[in-house]
Amino acid sequence: MDLEGKVAIVTGAASGIGLSSARLFAREGAKVVLADIDVEQGQAAAEAVGRDGGDALFVPTDVADPAACERLVEAALGRYGRLDCACNNAGISGELHPLAEMSIANWDRVIMVNLSSVFYCMKYQIPAMLKSQGGGAIVNVSSILGRVGFANACAYAAAKHGVLGVTENAALEYGAQGIRANVVGPGFISTPMIAGLEQDPQTKAELVSRHPIGRLGRPEEVAELVVWLCSDKSSFVTGAYYPVDGGYLAR
Ligand code: NAI
Repeated sequence: MDLEGKVAIVTGAASGIGLSSARLFAREGAKVVLADIDVEQGQAAAEAVGRDGGDALFVPTDVADPAACERLVEAALGRYGRLDCACNNAGISGELHPLAEMSIANWDRVIMVNLSSVFYCMKYQIPAMLKSQGGGAIVNVSSILGRVGFANACAYAAAKHGVLGVTENAALEYGAQGIRANVVGPGFISTPMIAGLEQDPQTKAELVSRHPIGRLGRPEEVAELVVWLCSDKSSFVTGAYYPVDGGYLAR
């Protein structure tokens, strides 16, 4: 998937899917700008990429803050002079409650972190890609819950559905200028985000039973798709939703 010489931003890169994606970008030759709100873990992640022989920069970033997203892109350009790829992955699960019991604060936060952040990031990434490279590839991390609902998670499902909309628009508006924008839709993946659910054997068995493949996913399996969608191997793919969900949506 040769990404030699390219520069990739990954948000939420301190953990889980983002960390696996950052590592794979580096292994494929890209210089990686890791962004996360967790400064300690983010620094450690960038150091780990460096120890593997990669060239990495950590930029502390709250993706719910548009100014921070702008600074992130400026930091990438400042350090490496170009931007080729972006994986907008940072996200939170939020509270689990039926709709009428969902707090307004939780709704607002989940929409901000999981959806508005994708708009903020692309708003600054797209001009930077066009100016520095005349194009680029963006992968936004949605979810199976970007396609179907999940009881007690209306804010999360709404945000993840929204990620499809904003991505399709980016593909429409900038495709002719060389920007590709796609969505990945993971099923349940064993990361710190779902550690609480996995701890309870009954809940875990119920989650596994929703995946025809008979297990939960690994973050590395999502990273493979993310990096492929950012590589020239997927040069005619844009505006698409790619499930990586062990067959969850086929049920
Ligand atoms: P994770 O909890 O392991 O990692 C998420 C990362 O995002 C953390 O490092 C966290 O510090 C960071 N983050 C949270 N809020 C942030 C903010 N405001 N600004 C910057 N960084 C922030 O979770 P995981 O599983 O790796 O999730 C990554 C993405 O994949 C999320 O968008 C999630 O919704 C999505 N996803 C995860 C699934 C799963 O089962 N784990 C399933 C489908 C989608």
